[in-house]
Amino acid sequence: MTGNNDGSGSLRIGEDEVSQTYEHAPVMLKEVLETFEPLKEGLFVDATVGGGGHAHAILEQGPNRFLIGLDRDPNAVQATKERLRQLAERAKVVHASFDQIASVIDSESRELTGAIFDLGVSSHQLDTPDRGFSHRHDAPLDMRMDPNQDLNASTVVNTYTEDELAWLLRTNADERFARRIAKSIATHRPIRSTTELAELVREAVPAAARRTGKHPARRTFQAIRIAVNDELEQIELALKQTIERLTPGGRIVVLSYHSGEDKIVKQVLREAADGVCECPSTLPCICDSEPNVKLLRRKVVRPTTEEIEANPRAASARFRAAERLSVSEL
Ligand SMILES: C[S@@+](CC[C@H](N)C(=O)[O-])C[C@H]1O[C@@H](n2cnc3c(N)ncnc32)[C@H](O)[C@@H]1O
Repeated sequence: MTGNNDGSGSLRIGEDEVSQTYEHAPVMLKEVLETFEPLKEGLFVDATVGGGGHAHAILEQGPNRFLIGLDRDPNAVQATKERLRQLAERAKVVHASFDQIASVIDSESRELTGAIFDLGVSSHQLDTPDRGFSHRHDAPLDMRMDPNQDLNASTVVNTYTEDELAWLLRTNADERFARRIAKSIATHRPIRSTTELAELVREAVPAAARRTGKHPARRTFQAIRIAVNDELEQIELALKQTIERLTPGGRIVVLSYHSGEDKIVKQVLREAADGVCECPSTLPCICDSEPNVKLLRRKVVRPTTEEIEANPRAASARFRAAERLSVSEL
């Protein structure tokens, strides 16, 4: 865990920090609050606190709720500290990645009642030009959510092999023209800016694909951002560790934004609901694996047309939720 801290590794709300504008509309907020509505008290963890939109609403919904929010982006931590200043008695925000979620939760004495993972990138990150997340702004190739980490987009773009680039374009963004784009990147290096990269991708895709409305470099930027921040690697373990720590009746909500993320989320929740044995197939089962959640919706839930009209960035959201079983339900 990094950042200013009070000795416990946590950033207490109310410190004298520079306030800043942090724009991000919380996605599927109505569905999130409906899911958490029965949970009147206890600790909530917001694993991706961002601008604190979900966190603020969760705290407002229940006066006996406490919340710990984490984010790997120090700007998000600072903005949310400011935003939750009025609720500081019940909220804490820490600069941490959710691969540290187990120790973040375990450092609290309260039972874990609710958890939310709102995966991916924030509007603030996309709209801050010099962070290099968007093909719309000319900037150095960066895309780090945590500016303290070493790997950035320039390293991925300029040093990964053509095969590695093609693989991550397919895996992280379902890019149809992965091979053509990877080849073009490998041929035109060094690539120094977001604009150079965006233009190169535009030229690499077939002419018909340039006329579809959305910028043809959108998926490439997504794929590189996911690689830079190692986004898919951390999800499975963090979800499992959080589910294990939920109190019976506690609920988890996960919002994902592309098929690679949702596949992992669906699998973790399904396995928790089915009680999948994790022992090696060559050995007898010793784990006595039992279901430990029930799915609150059998199918993925998508945002309403009204929400997408008001916030087009919500369009790709996929909502899943589960409830930790009590002993009598096993
Ligand atoms: C979609 S935004 C969350 C927005 C938030 N729910 C709100 O209402 O403002 C996702 C946030 O998750 C953070 N994030 C992504 N991966 C993370 C990880 N592995 N650990 C911690 N934070 C992460 C990003 O930095 C970003 O701020």
